[in-house]
Amino acid sequence: MLQTVHQPVADRMARAEVPRLLMCAPEHFAVHYSINPWMDPAAWAAAAVRDGGAAQAKARRQWSALHAALTAAGAAIETVPPVQGLPDLVFTANAAVVLNGTALLARFRHPERQGEEPVFAAAFEGLRTRGLLSRVVALPDDVVLEGAGDCLFDPARDLFWMGHGPRSDPRAAEAVAATFGVSVVPLQLVDPRFYHLDTALCPLPTGDLIYYPGAFSEAGRAAIEAQVPARQRIALGEDDAVQFAANAVCVGGTVVMSRCSAALRAELAARGYAVVETLLDTFLQSGGSAACLTLRLDRHAAVSTALAG
Ligand code: ARG
Repeated sequence: MLQTVHQPVADRMARAEVPRLLMCAPEHFAVHYSINPWMDPAAWAAAAVRDGGAAQAKARRQWSALHAALTAAGAAIETVPPVQGLPDLVFTANAAVVLNGTALLARFRHPERQGEEPVFAAAFEGLRTRGLLSRVVALPDDVVLEGAGDCLFDPARDLFWMGHGPRSDPRAAEAVAATFGVSVVPLQLVDPRFYHLDTALCPLPTGDLIYYPGAFSEAGRAAIEAQVPARQRIALGEDDAVQFAANAVCVGGTVVMSRCSAALRAELAARGYAVVETLLDTFLQSGGSAACLTLRLDRHAAVSTALAG
């Protein structure tokens, strides 16, 4: 017989290592430019004049609550020091693709975020020195790939899902496959609101997959359906999708997200997951939420054909 469906995921994950996440405190978080449809710098500036920096204080509170929720779920948190003038540095998901102790550093599409590249490179070098990573590698010249924002490892299938279109280049798939020696399934993103893959898709450790079908091209949806049997697909409605419910962080059997409908909560509970909601609406003003604010550092593939070194 198959194992019982209702066994809590945390029990099944009990022997796994402590999940380690990279975050960056929002000291300098702001919406000063617009590179996705969620970002409205004029509205941000007007609100700052109106309530004298309340959004800044709210960002700090919400980020600290996320940090606390992840720690309570069992994660160890590493941090990158915030840098003035780099308001999106908080979105560490975009820093790199990390697997098997190797960090493949991101290259950003927009000049507004390219200043983050050397900061993240130094941070990963620091993690390598401390033994938390073994290799830090660069992408080929001219290839854009915005880290785990567009490249999510699916631990149940031992593959990467890679979003492309708004930000990352489709040919980044070759670089990811060559670096890590695992399969890459490219998915074209077609709705400007869901401009990074992690805004619309979240692979869970049991093989269940949260996603918003409307974010993907027809070929993308077909690729998801080919890999994930219907019973493992958790398709979001637009109400959950626009709250960035797919932008969730799964630590053991706990799924941490900003907002979740009762229906989604029940669906995840039926699969053995506990949902923790911690409101991150200030970051949604920049087009980000829980997953964007974290980067998983400890994932390992079951099978990898990449050469070490
Ligand atoms: N303002 C940021 C940008 O547009 C948000 C990034 C969100 N990160 C993510 N992994 N989806 O680049």
